Amino acid sequence: MITIIGSGRVGTAAAVIMGLMKLDNKILLIDIVKGLPQGEALDMNHMSSILGLDVEYVGSNEYKDIEGSDLIIVTAGLPRKPGMTREQLLEANAKIVAEIGREIKKYAPDSIVILTTNPLDAMTYVMWKATGFPRERVIGFSGVLDAGRLAFYAAKKLGISPASILPIVLGQHGESMFPVPSKSYVHGVPLSKLLTEEQLKEVVEETVKAGARITELRGFSSNWGPGAGLAIMAEAVKRDAKRALIASVVLQGEYGVRDVPVEVPIILGKSGVVKVLEVELTEEERQKFMQSVEAVRNLVASVPPSYLQ
Ligand code: 2OP
Repeated sequence: MITIIGSGRVGTAAAVIMGLMKLDNKILLIDIVKGLPQGEALDMNHMSSILGLDVEYVGSNEYKDIEGSDLIIVTAGLPRKPGMTREQLLEANAKIVAEIGREIKKYAPDSIVILTTNPLDAMTYVMWKATGFPRERVIGFSGVLDAGRLAFYAAKKLGISPASILPIVLGQHGESMFPVPSKSYVHGVPLSKLLTEEQLKEVVEETVKAGARITELRGFSSNWGPGAGLAIMAEAVKRDAKRALIASVVLQGEYGVRDVPVEVPIILGKSGVVKVLEVELTEEERQKFMQSVEAVRNLVASVPPSYLQ
């Protein structure tokens, strides 16, 4: 059973896409708002019936119902409003993530947790502490989204399919995000060789600002990109695909960093993170990466200690 905690726009988009991909025959939606997950589940069951998916959706307001779930996706928390940075959500969302983490520890102690709550990397740290799980089982989503956006903007300029690009984005899912065109390849040729300096600058800027741009345009933050990215991660876990993708994990010595979660390439399978891949960086790239690591370290340091137990 896949559980999705948070039945807002991201949670429901993920639930629909995972159902269409038939990743499990049961998908549980949890939310604290009475009636919301039940209503969403009922509507999705009608979808499942019409499309002949044989996927059952269940809605609940009770954390105890997550018992037996092998994969838990956490989308709960406050989203950004226009003009806000992800970092401004820190305190309110740390409280929510810590509470959910304790419930997961209690009812689904062997599960894999993937979370989307912003500021993403700092919340990954809070979830890691609250569950007490090994870092391999607490994974911050968003690298798939940031990398997907990098591929999208670069592909548009090149006039090729985004699927032909293997994009790399490192560091924070936030203001100091570090897309790396020199390590993002189109069949062996890096983007830095295919695009001009000016184009590369634009692609990087569009990637970093993509989430804010969506929020500005429509007044609320992204959900379709996150829903799709979560489904790709869930697929890697449920099918034990051991797929290489980008995600936020607590580094334990890789890149010379310890106990800070940032986006890095990983191999993902049914036990969670199978491996963290270390991208070789130039001195200049390494400095940028480390600035991003420091930004996350500072955010983590400002989380109230009561949410880190
Ligand atoms: C985004 O980048 C909301 O952080 C999310 O769209």
